[in-house]
Amino acid sequence: MASGNAIQSIRGMNDLLPDQMSTWQRVETALRNVARLYDYREIRTPILERTELFKRAIGEQTDIVEKEMYTFTDNNGDSLTLRPEGTASTVRAGNQHGLLHNQTQRLWYSGPMFRHERPQKGRYRQFHQFGIEALGWHGPEVEAEVITVGERLWRMLGLTGLSLQINTLGSAEGRSLFRASLKDYLAPFEKSLDEDSQRRLEKNPLRILDSKDAKTQEILENAPTLQDFIESEEREHFETLQMLLSSAGVHFEVNPRLVRGLDYYTGFVFEWLTDQLGAQSAVCAGGRYDGLAEQLGGRSVPATGFACGLERLVELVSLNEANSLQDNPDVYLITQSADVEGAGVRIAEFLRNKDFKVVSGLSSSNLKKQLRRADGSGAGVAVIVPDRYISGSQLLAKPLRGQGEQREMPESDLEKFLRECTDQLP
Ligand code: HAM
Repeated sequence: MASGNAIQSIRGMNDLLPDQMSTWQRVETALRNVARLYDYREIRTPILERTELFKRAIGEQTDIVEKEMYTFTDNNGDSLTLRPEGTASTVRAGNQHGLLHNQTQRLWYSGPMFRHERPQKGRYRQFHQFGIEALGWHGPEVEAEVITVGERLWRMLGLTGLSLQINTLGSAEGRSLFRASLKDYLAPFEKSLDEDSQRRLEKNPLRILDSKDAKTQEILENAPTLQDFIESEEREHFETLQMLLSSAGVHFEVNPRLVRGLDYYTGFVFEWLTDQLGAQSAVCAGGRYDGLAEQLGGRSVPATGFACGLERLVELVSLNEANSLQDNPDVYLITQSADVEGAGVRIAEFLRNKDFKVVSGLSSSNLKKQLRRADGSGAGVAVIVPDRYISGSQLLAKPLRGQGEQREMPESDLEKFLRECTDQLP
């Protein structure tokens, strides 16, 4: 442990230590694989961007822009911000490099994001997101695709129990009518609203719907709802999406109160939730944001996407893996005497060539002690090279997990035996 005055990392910004990395790497491999299966291509953008980008994209009145950005002035006097999310940068890059001009793009990204939130379990100031953005498609089909990418990812990671909530925010016109009507309704109650809500009443009354204040919520009970302003075309679009999701076998719940904390959404929005991570229940979230490319100075491009929080995903995978042997060695190799060390090294290398994960005991201490170590390593099978072993004579293979009897066999039978054993492990 470091002494009292040793330098520590910044609060809410975590070191990822070697013990955690194998789960991170497995999650990252799954992300890349799911992106490949749907033909999404990777894009990498800078971590620093002009502050203006996020103000315009996410919205000046949002929590992220109002109080969570890491913003500073550089030596040229430019205001720069550590990216709090990846969608704005992806669209900025798409505009800048002509990727959205008369063509469609399926893009993905993964990397660190920064938000000055109050840190707690599952909520950090540096965290990682994996995101996909489908740019150029109008219909509900692409929305269904984006959902199935998520669903497949959970399946690849062995995650069950994630629930999907969906909603539609309607068209920009509908929303602006709703905004005006909500403002009219709330105006007479202004003095009774909480402080934040009073401030938001003029510029961003929709955010008042998220207020945690009991009195404000009471006032909102009789307020007009967004659903009253969804036009029939939007409603049809949303119904077709629900039909597509049902045919893809995706379970979902329509939550008319689901609104998102970023202003760029238009129409479809969704969140994948878990009840396994306490308060930080959103693992993945996104929706349609048709106005963003134009808002950032490009042409109008329809767009849909999502981002997952990798810390939350890794935590879920770890919880689900607590009892599984996924990352344990397949084989623990024991040599019974110093004379057969050479054979031991050769057999270990032979098995690694066959893609088994092998831990060598590297000792010829007594067999009982070595078997105890083998057991502690979590390996599926102990392979024992007996004293006086020569090529062609019998090895001993002892399954340490699941069923299967200890057996003697020549080296030539070992691979087949190990495949059977490791497959049958839980
Ligand atoms: P978001 O809902 O702000 O959306 O973030 C997406 C996910 O990032 C959250 O569901 C959560 O898992 C994770 N996340 C957010 N903040 C933190 C934090 N402080 N600590 C740990 N995890 C966090 C977006 O960022 C949009 N760009 C999503 C999107 C992409 N919409 C369309 N395309």
